[in-house]
Amino acid sequence: MTDGIRVAALDDVAEGEGLAISKDVTGTEDNIAILRDEDGGVWALNDTCTHETASLADGWVENGHVECPLHASRFCLKNGAVEGLPATKDTVAHRVEVRDGDVYLYPNEQP
Ligand code: FES
Repeated sequence: MTDGIRVAALDDVAEGEGLAISKDVTGTEDNIAILRDEDGGVWALNDTCTHETASLADGWVENGHVECPLHASRFCLKNGAVEGLPATKDTVAHRVEVRDGDVYLYPNEQP
């Protein structure tokens, strides 16, 4: 068990929005979208939409999902499950923790 990777300050991620973290930082196969919902919860998904190549960090976060900015597919914040066409493939969710105002990512660990 590690302490995770500090990827952002919580204040860097506005409620209802996302922040893309390079895979060069996270060591993951894709960039990671850090997503903050309207209740202040913080979530992490692979950043590249499974439909084409849009960045989910540029999408809208509300009601438990992120909506792709390009064609409006939705993905569950908790587990990456696709919830709306045109995407048909789930994405990957990663565990995150907020400690002392910072966001820590646990790459490839289940949330
Ligand atoms: S690129 Fe995301 S729905 Fe098309």
